[in-house]
Amino acid sequence: MRAFADASRPIDAVSPMIYGQFIEHFYRQIYGGIYEPGSPLADEDGFRTDVLKALRALKVPVVRWPGGCFASAYHWKKGVGPVRTPYFDKAWRVEEPNTFGTDEFIRFCRKIGAEPYICANAGTGTAEEMSDWVEYCNEPHLGEWAKKRAAYGNPEPFRVKYWSIGNENYTSGEIGSKTVAAWGPFVREAAKMMLRVDPTIELFAASVPDLDWNLGLLRSAGDLIHWLSIHEYWDPAWEENKLSDYTGAMRASTRVENSIKKTEAILCALGYEKRIRIAFDEWNLRGWHHPGVMDFSRLIPDHAACEAHREKNEDDAVYTMADAVFSACFLNACIRHAGSVGMANFSPIANTRGAIHVHPDGLVLRPTYHVFKLFADHMGSTAVDGYISSGETFDAGDEKVAALDMAATVDERGTLRVALVNRHPDAALDLDFNPRGAAFEGCATLHTVNGPDKDSFNSIDCPDAVTTRCKALTPEGGSLALVLEPHSVNVLVWEKEKA
Ligand code: AHR
Repeated sequence: MRAFADASRPIDAVSPMIYGQFIEHFYRQIYGGIYEPGSPLADEDGFRTDVLKALRALKVPVVRWPGGCFASAYHWKKGVGPVRTPYFDKAWRVEEPNTFGTDEFIRFCRKIGAEPYICANAGTGTAEEMSDWVEYCNEPHLGEWAKKRAAYGNPEPFRVKYWSIGNENYTSGEIGSKTVAAWGPFVREAAKMMLRVDPTIELFAASVPDLDWNLGLLRSAGDLIHWLSIHEYWDPAWEENKLSDYTGAMRASTRVENSIKKTEAILCALGYEKRIRIAFDEWNLRGWHHPGVMDFSRLIPDHAACEAHREKNEDDAVYTMADAVFSACFLNACIRHAGSVGMANFSPIANTRGAIHVHPDGLVLRPTYHVFKLFADHMGSTAVDGYISSGETFDAGDEKVAALDMAATVDERGTLRVALVNRHPDAALDLDFNPRGAAFEGCATLHTVNGPDKDSFNSIDCPDAVTTRCKALTPEGGSLALVLEPHSVNVLVWEKEKA
């Protein structure tokens, strides 16, 4: 098999925000996840110091909060100030303690060095409530909410740049879902009020790769928004927790670009491809398991029973090299579409299906964590052209799947940095890798995330079944003979100059 990467053919700058994360008020993502006041592992503000350290190591660029479905009935004003009143969260049918609100979220982002991204309530919320939230966060001193922020201990504005109007308001299951006809005008009125408070913010709007939905949205508010927010989970586990195996995950990994391409085409057709970018701001191979919420015929009255189902998301054994390989293919797709995809947020950051499992005594860094670390440490800032010739395939159920998935980048020094994913469940790939567009005469190394087999996972008892290894390579005649291990995620780093 042969592959080529041409350092002289740039596609576009790779936005670092494609390595973003998402956190929601769902089960133990926040309470018992990142935020655990009283834990011996918590800092003076109640944040788990081991979680903060692990997230800093990922160089997380942006975090989206507070949801997700939770956002569509969240009234932010109850979550600020000295008195926090618990309330019944109608999205997830639990009691929200309200002790983690805007101030705590901003503090969390500052501690890990990430930009905050707030998803505002377009379900039961109003344009005024959203714009008051912008005032609370960004207005230096005018108005009731800027003054309250100062009174609560934050005289300086939080400067939140990213704001989403709504979450999945196109789905019937969402609280306050909207019709195609109503969504565009609603977004426009909310955008007008939010921009009147702070004209420098960037606005996202809940979208889906559907022509009618986006025609309505963009004709009404295309001149005021900067991003289309799209979501996808390829393993729909919310009602039945029947998760796909490695083979199913590989089939899914060949479809990660579909929504991007559809959204690109819609933006292009309407002439917005230069102004509006794609934010894939919720993605994960695995849908979260929470039966009896979206499907009203299956509502579960007993709260404890609801929570028992949600505990199944915490099982480390579910998250194997299938998740790692899939996630690398998704990030590769974002890199190949660097001209249109400016943000992506893994859903979620901790617990549930996240890259980190937080338990009372420590953490499990799941295989997906090691993929994010690999890309954060080794991938470059400019996507460049590349292609695979004579690509091998393997049978994945009734589909033939390409064994190799690739995305090529260069960094500011011209170093070639290429993500090479071997999807094959049990065969190594012999790859003849050929750089073009420059002479690469420096050191070459291959960084590999892998485990003993395709179903390897990390757990409390076995935290290092899946790890990252590195080996030096010996270029010959300007090319490299690589052997990519089965079910592995690799980044090739090849310096231009000799050391
Ligand atoms: O399963 C979690 C939910 O998935 C998020 O809250 C929502 O945004 C998406 O539908």
